[in-house]
Amino acid sequence: MTEAYKIIDHTYDTVVVGAGGSGLRATMGSAEAGLKTACITKLFPTRSHTVAAQGGIAASLGNNSPDHWTWHMYDTVKGSDWLGDQDAIEYMVREAPAAVIELEHAGVPFSRNENGTIYQRPFGGHMQNMGAGPPVQRTCAAADRTGHAMLHALYQQSLKYDADFYIEYFAIDLIMEDGPNGKECRGVIAICMEDGSIHRFRSHAVVLATGGYGRAYFSATSAHSCTGDGGGMVLRAGLPLQDLEFVQFHPTGIYGAGVLITEGARGEGGYLTNSEGERFMERYAPSAKDLASRDVVSRSMAMEMREGRGVGEHKDHIFLHLDHIDPKVLAERLPGITESGKIFAGVDLTRQPLPVTPTVHYNMGGIPCNYHGQVVTKKGDDPEVIVPGLFAVGEAACVSVHGANRLGSNSLIDLVVFGRATGLFLKDNLKPNASHRALPADAADLALSRLDHYRNAKGSTPTADIRLDMQRTMQKHAAVFRDSALLAEGVSQMQAVNKRLQDVKVTDRSLIWNTDLIETLELDNLMSQAICTMEGAEARKESRGAHAHEDFPNRDDENWMKHTISWFEGWGGSGGKVTLDYRPVHDYTMTDEAEYVKPKARVY
Ligand code: FUM
Repeated sequence: MTEAYKIIDHTYDTVVVGAGGSGLRATMGSAEAGLKTACITKLFPTRSHTVAAQGGIAASLGNNSPDHWTWHMYDTVKGSDWLGDQDAIEYMVREAPAAVIELEHAGVPFSRNENGTIYQRPFGGHMQNMGAGPPVQRTCAAADRTGHAMLHALYQQSLKYDADFYIEYFAIDLIMEDGPNGKECRGVIAICMEDGSIHRFRSHAVVLATGGYGRAYFSATSAHSCTGDGGGMVLRAGLPLQDLEFVQFHPTGIYGAGVLITEGARGEGGYLTNSEGERFMERYAPSAKDLASRDVVSRSMAMEMREGRGVGEHKDHIFLHLDHIDPKVLAERLPGITESGKIFAGVDLTRQPLPVTPTVHYNMGGIPCNYHGQVVTKKGDDPEVIVPGLFAVGEAACVSVHGANRLGSNSLIDLVVFGRATGLFLKDNLKPNASHRALPADAADLALSRLDHYRNAKGSTPTADIRLDMQRTMQKHAAVFRDSALLAEGVSQMQAVNKRLQDVKVTDRSLIWNTDLIETLELDNLMSQAICTMEGAEARKESRGAHAHEDFPNRDDENWMKHTISWFEGWGGSGGKVTLDYRPVHDYTMTDEAEYVKPKARVY
C-alpha cells in the first residue's frame, strides 16, 4: 500500500503544526533564533481560529485601573477552581505585560486611551485586590477584533525571520520512534490538500499548535476547522491527553447560530436579563454580577432557562442588553459584534436586546506539557516524563494554566506567552542545522494506512451523519450540567457512535482537494477526544469549574484535586478503549515572590 504514495522529504530544525496565535509565535521565535523552521497549516495563517478572538488579551499593565501580576495570578488560580498549576500560572501572568508590549511593537493596532496607552477593559473574573474587587480593567483590546489584529502582526513577523510556510497542508500523523527513554517524536507526515502530494517532515522538534476540538459539539463558537488534529495525533501515538472533561461554555453565543458575542460586551456595560426582565446575575454573583467567571454565568443562565425564565417561545435563551450604551461607544469599541448581531440574529444592538445562550467555546484540557512547551506523559510513578522532540502550545496544550475553567482573555495571553517560551526553549536547546538520524523505515506507515483506509472507505454511512451523531451526543450528555445517569448513557452512546466509523463512506477517491477525505480524518481526531471527554467526565465525582455534576455538587479537594490523563486505543472505529489515570496538581509557585493561593470556596 505505502509504495503507491510518492513521498516528498523535508528536513528542518523545527516544524510547527498550526498557524494560529501560538503556532505563529513559536514559529517566529524559532526562526528568529536562526533555526530552520517550517510551519504547516491547514488554513491560511490569517484565517486560523485566533482570528475569532474578540475581546482581548489579559495583562496587568494597569493602564485603566490599578493592577498587579499577583492579582492576575490570584484570579487565574481562583478561576481555574484550583485545578491550575500555580507555577505555570505565575510564569504566564508575570510574562504577560512584556508579551503585550512586544505585540504592540510587532504592530498590533491596540485601541488607545486619551494618553496614548493601550486601552484595557474589564472581563469576567478579573478583579482588583486579590479577588476582593472591584473589577479590574486588565483586558487589552483592539476594538473587538484583537485576535485578528494579532494574527496579522505575528504572520508578518514570522515571514520577516524567513520561516517556511506550508499552507493548506493537513498533518496526518506524527513520526514516533522508540528511543532509549521511551517514545520520541521525529517529525510529522502531511498531505498537501491542493495537489494531494504526501510530505514527510523530519525535525528535531515538532510543535503542535493545532487548537481545540470544539467541533466535537453541535453548537460551538469554534470554527469548523477546530477538530483537535494535534490531540488526535497524540492519542494515536500512544500518549495521553489531560483534563478533557473541562469544556468551557461561553455565556453569550448568538442563539441559533452559535456565533461569539464577546465578553467585552459585558465589560463595556452590557447585562443579561430573563423573561421577567430581571438582571438575574445579581442573585447568583452579588459582587461581580454579569462579570463573574464564565462557568458561573453559563450555569446561572442554564438555571434560569430550566426554571422557566428563559426568553422566547421555547424559553430557551436569554437577552443580552447593550441598547443602553451610547451608540458611539458601540461603534468604537464593539463594531464586530454590532455587525454579527445584525447578520446572525437580525438585531440592531443599539435598540434591541440580543438573544444569547451558553455555547461551547474552549477546551481547558489538551496535550499535557510543561511551561517550556515540552509534552509530558506519565510512566509508572513519574507523572511528568518528557517526550523528546514533541511540544505543544495554545488551546491544543494543557500547561495547565486554566485548570477547570479559563478566564476570558487569558487564552490570547497563554498563546503568546507559551508560544514565546517554546521558541526560547528551542533557541537554548537546538543548534541550527544540527545533523539528523535517519528516520525509522516505518515512519510513514501509520499516516499512510489511515489515509488509504479512509480514501477507499466503502461503507454506507456518510461522514457528516456520524459527525452529527457525535455532536448531538456530546451536546446532550456532556453539557453545562451533567449527572451520573446522563454521563453513563453518554459513555455507552459515544462508544456506539465510534463503532459507526467502521462503516464510513467516503465517495471521493481522488487526492486533489478531497474535502470528503479530510473531513473524515478530522472526524477521526474529534472522535477519540470526544470519547475521552465523556469518560473523564463520567469518572470525576465532584463539581469543579466547568464540570458541574449534579449528583456531586461540591468541589472535593481531598479526592479530586488532580489532573485526569486519558489514553485512547485505536482509530477508525476500532478499539475505543479509554484508560484513565491521574497526576497531581502543582501546588507550588515558581518563585518566592508569588504566594501559593490556598484553596477556598469560590464565590463572585
Ligand atoms: O469573549 C471573548 O471575547 C472571548 C475571549 C476569550 O475567550 O478569551
